Amino acid sequence: MKAACVLLCLALGASANIFKRQRQNLIEQPQEYINQYQRPLYRPREQTYQEYIRAQKQVQSSSEETREIQDAYQGLNTPLYSAAVMSVQDAIPRGYPPSKREWTMPINVPELGIWRGQLPVDSPVAQEIQSIVTQAKQAMKPMTAEDKTSFQSLAAQKDDENAHLNATELLKKYQYPVEEHTVKTDDGYFLTLFRIPAKKQQIRDVTAKPVVFLMHGLLGSADDWLLMGPGKSLAYLLADAGYDVWLGNARGNKYSRRHVTKHAALDDFWQFSTDEVALHDLPAMIDYALKTSGQEKLHYVGHAFGSTAFFALAAARPAYNEKIISMHALSPMVYMSHVRSPLIRMSAPTGSFWARLQRLIGRGAFEPTKELIASAGGDMLATEIGNNIVSSNVNFVMSGVIDNAEQVPVVGAHLPAGGSSRTIKQYGQAVASGEFMKYDFGPAINSQVYGTVVPSKYNMSKVTAPVTLYSAADDWLSHPTDVARLQSELPHSETYEVPEPHFSHMDFQFSTKAPEIVYKKLIESMNRPY
Ligand SMILES: *[C@@H]1O[C@H](CO)[C@@H](O)[C@H](O)[C@H]1NC(C)=O
Ligand SMILES: *[C@@H]1O[C@H](CO)[C@@H](O)[C@H](O)[C@H]1NC(C)=O
Repeated sequence: MKAACVLLCLALGASANIFKRQRQNLIEQPQEYINQYQRPLYRPREQTYQEYIRAQKQVQSSSEETREIQDAYQGLNTPLYSAAVMSVQDAIPRGYPPSKREWTMPINVPELGIWRGQLPVDSPVAQEIQSIVTQAKQAMKPMTAEDKTSFQSLAAQKDDENAHLNATELLKKYQYPVEEHTVKTDDGYFLTLFRIPAKKQQIRDVTAKPVVFLMHGLLGSADDWLLMGPGKSLAYLLADAGYDVWLGNARGNKYSRRHVTKHAALDDFWQFSTDEVALHDLPAMIDYALKTSGQEKLHYVGHAFGSTAFFALAAARPAYNEKIISMHALSPMVYMSHVRSPLIRMSAPTGSFWARLQRLIGRGAFEPTKELIASAGGDMLATEIGNNIVSSNVNFVMSGVIDNAEQVPVVGAHLPAGGSSRTIKQYGQAVASGEFMKYDFGPAINSQVYGTVVPSKYNMSKVTAPVTLYSAADDWLSHPTDVARLQSELPHSETYEVPEPHFSHMDFQFSTKAPEIVYKKLIESMNRPY
């Protein structure tokens, strides 16, 4: 009895010690600490319209002007109102560092909270929405009556079995060998990795195979590399080409929703941006894949967010460049100044929508409301395409439609696979700042977390791995101009622009043309000596 107690006490003591040591080493940004600062900051010190008017009144005291201001308040669309909004907007400079006052005082006139339908069409805010949505529409393939019919008929189509299968089931269905692995990150998240060790004829002799690691896009999962089936989706093509294929899943997607202490039902679990995926998830997954396969280096393929995270990792921890044979970025998302996605553009803190969007985007899991989806392009897609899967799904609304109408129900069933609000906000911040930097908590917390008022930039000249950037002229998220800037900063990089008009962001994964115009080139480039 006594001996048992001694043993128990020893065990408890030891585990408490290990736990303490882990906490010290691993948690870079203590959550309670951030929350403590974040809550008051995110309840922005708003200047109400009344306060704004009152301030104006002190300047403009003539009674006529006061009446005009009151009219403006009611009618929302008089010239004076426009001037008022313009003058507030003009006070907010584009670019960093924003002064404290500008950053913490979002414009908050009541009508900015009113969206679709209720906004007078010629009010400046309605016009700003209109102009954002119009630019996105211009990058879309114009729909013929025939295209529209094919999209609309999809709604009535019989359910495709693939809509309901997970990655393992999809691979088994097509007789590819598959393994499921679980990796724990150094900050306690459990991530699922899928592995296709070989194509079906070559199950033996997997050890010598080169490893390729595939990382999904924004709100995506490993499934996205499999949905079009063998002979089409990239994961099967790579397995057929003799690679040991690993499919990653970022924290927060449907396959990676466990943590040692945090529960995914609570906001606490979701306090991460691309930074945490880049600095904790990717190293854990890459190291695990290398260790398990017995290799020292791997090829990396990232779609969109999967590329953002890679560039952040390779810049912040340059030693990881040594583990990369070659990196292939489909629709690279680093600089976001020219982004055409309405949702991401509206998420920029410099836009008129910020105060409203902060609330709609939330602060935990990203679970967009119908109102947000409709306002950020869903209404436009409903008119243009007339398929309700497309116009109500955040991935289509954020990234544009795909050219493969048949694939829409399956894609719509697998996406969105989950992600955090911070990830979306961080892209919005990149639109406003024109820079690729860590998540911006606002000056007060930045100072505590990073030691500087402005978050640090990721230095692209530290990304020494050989990189190929695959871009498309009409991609809503990855604009060729932004890609050109990225390429100019990367020491070993080349760009391949897809020779196809209106090739959309998600066409990189779901277009019937992708195997021919993207994957063929990618696999050839991977096969060459590095
Ligand atoms: C995929 O589905 C199969 C069958 O339902 C299940 O056994 C497996 O655990 C699932 N895999 C994951 C990673 O969810
Ligand atoms: C970025 O990295 C390069 C190469 O290491 C270095 O020469 C340069 O000074 C860095 N730039 C900044 C702004 O830190």
